[in-house]
Amino acid sequence: MPFEIDRRAFIASLGGAAAVNLMSHEARADALEDYSIHKLDETVAQAQAGQNAAAPEKFPTAAEIEARIDGSANRRGAGNLFVSSANRPIKRLEPMPARPTLMDFFKLRFQPANHVLQSATRAMKTGMSEEVILACLLHDVVQALIKVDHGWWGAQMFEPYVPEKSTFGVRYHQALRFYADEANGYEYPDLYRRTFGVDYTPEPYIEETYKMVRKHKWYIEPRMVTVNDLYAFDPNAVVTIDPFTDIIGRHFKQPKEGLGFDNSPVAHMWRSIAFPDHPL
Ligand SMILES: [Fe+2]
Ligand SMILES: [Fe+2]
Repeated sequence: MPFEIDRRAFIASLGGAAAVNLMSHEARADALEDYSIHKLDETVAQAQAGQNAAAPEKFPTAAEIEARIDGSANRRGAGNLFVSSANRPIKRLEPMPARPTLMDFFKLRFQPANHVLQSATRAMKTGMSEEVILACLLHDVVQALIKVDHGWWGAQMFEPYVPEKSTFGVRYHQALRFYADEANGYEYPDLYRRTFGVDYTPEPYIEETYKMVRKHKWYIEPRMVTVNDLYAFDPNAVVTIDPFTDIIGRHFKQPKEGLGFDNSPVAHMWRSIAFPDHPL
C-alpha cells in the first residue's frame, strides 16, 4: 500500500532537528525504517477498520436492473465474443488451426478463462471426481457465444464429447446456483443480488428444474460445480490450463476433423465461436 512519509512528523518523532543532527547516518536510516514500518502497519490497520465500518452494499432491485435495458448497446444475454467492453475491446482474432482442439479454443477464443480455471483448480485441490473437475473447467465457457441459459447451451455444446455426468453438471449448475445448500457448502452469492436484483425470483422453469435435480441421483455433480463457482472470482489468482491436460486427454473425445468440422449436431456452435466475425 503506497504512503508518503511526513518529514516533519518523522523528525519530531526523533526529538527534533537538533537530535537528528547528532545521529549517525546509520542510526537515521534505521530510524526511518522503523518509522516506515510503523506507519505502514498503521495505514493497513486504518484501511481495514474503514472496510469493516463501510456500509453494507446496497443491491439494486430487479426492476432497477430491468430499467437499464432501454437504450443499452447490447442485450444482457449476448455472448462475450460479440460484445465490446472496457476490459475486452473488440479486436481481430487470431485464426484457429484447421482442425481445432479444445485446447485451441481455450487458448484462442475462451481466454483468459480465469474464472473457469480457478473453479476447476479448486475442484482438483479439494479432491473432486474427474467428471466434476471437467464440468467446472467447462461450466461457463459457452458464454463466449451466449450468456442467457448458458447452462443448457454449454451442456449441449459439450454433450457429444464429455462424460454424461460432466454434461449434467454443466447443464444444471445454472438452476442450482439460485438455491442455497448449506450442507454442501453453497450459499446464495452477493454476485447474484448484484446481477439479478435483490428481490429476484427465478423463472418457473428454473424452479422446476431445481426440484427435479434436487431429487436426482447425480444432484451432487451440478451442486459441486456451483460450490467451486463461488470461490472462483479471485482477481489475483494465477491459473493455467496445463494441470488439466491429462483430464481432458482422458475424458474429452476430441474429433479428428477438429471441433466444428465433425458434422456433429453441435458443430455449428463451435464454428460460431471460431468465426464470430462472419456476418451471416
Ligand atoms: Fe455459470
Ligand atoms: Fe461460473
